[in-house]
Amino acid sequence: MRVLRTVFELRQWSREARRQPGCSVGLVPTMGALHAGHASLLRAAAASCSHVVVSIFVNPTQFGPNEDYARYPRSFEADCQLAEAAGASAVFAPSVEELYPAGAATFVEVDGLSDRLDGQSRPGHFRGVTTVVAKLLIAAEPDCAFFGQKDAAQVAVLRRMVSDLHLAAELVVCPIVREADGLALSSRNRYLSAAERTRALVLSRAVGRVEALFAGGEHRAAALIPAAAEIFAAVPEIRIDYLALVDWGTLQPVVCAAPGDLFAVAAWIGTTRLIDNTILS
Ligand code: PAJ
Repeated sequence: MRVLRTVFELRQWSREARRQPGCSVGLVPTMGALHAGHASLLRAAAASCSHVVVSIFVNPTQFGPNEDYARYPRSFEADCQLAEAAGASAVFAPSVEELYPAGAATFVEVDGLSDRLDGQSRPGHFRGVTTVVAKLLIAAEPDCAFFGQKDAAQVAVLRRMVSDLHLAAELVVCPIVREADGLALSSRNRYLSAAERTRALVLSRAVGRVEALFAGGEHRAAALIPAAAEIFAAVPEIRIDYLALVDWGTLQPVVCAAPGDLFAVAAWIGTTRLIDNTILS
């Protein structure tokens, strides 16, 4: 597997790959600490693209000043092994200076969406995400870029960005990969103590409750959100950041949910913030 360190190398690699007849490039952006959720994106990419590049970059601009940028897990060697086994042909692992050279002053921001859900509790977060993903899409020129529904608000913001900027890549959204007991896989799960790991199950339980109520015909936000809140109330150690029922395109709240709407939750378990969601069907 090739390790690419500069934008120039990435662009050369991608152009070389796409020059071959019938070949296509898939990009899987990540911040590393790869797990089976990331692997599912890589496998989806390898199933539809002849060449797959995974980016591993802990992006400083998407972390707030008091967030976990410095302690975010970094495991480059293990990540490369997992990526290669899941079908990656190259890894793009630039330095911070490579993606943000001294004097870099250009940011990408999606008005109206960037300050909703995670963007509301993490000011500037989505501006950092859209800026780095725009840089990656422009540098890699992929045919397809793969993202997880796990970060459903991120998907909404990135879809808007790709459409507004007329970027050529097709965004592919892959389902949430969960542990056997329901916990959505996340690089941040490794921050949890054993007791916190048990408590964290309330997120997927709340998601499951809303899914079941919706399937049973309850579509009112005024009933679905309190039903989820009730599940959290049983575990007072957990602090809800948000429980939201929104249109997945605009991230605006809906009063009565329809298939395709997003129910999303974020909560603090000690010092760890976890998210989960479902697209109602
Ligand atoms: P990261 O948290 O590393 O996630 C990389 C990709 O893996 C995202 O698209 C995310 O939604 C997906 N993913 C994470 N957990 C998943 C799970 N349990 N099931 C399925 N997919 C999962 O998201 C980011 O990095 C960054 O914001 C990034 C887009 C790379 C920009 O820096």
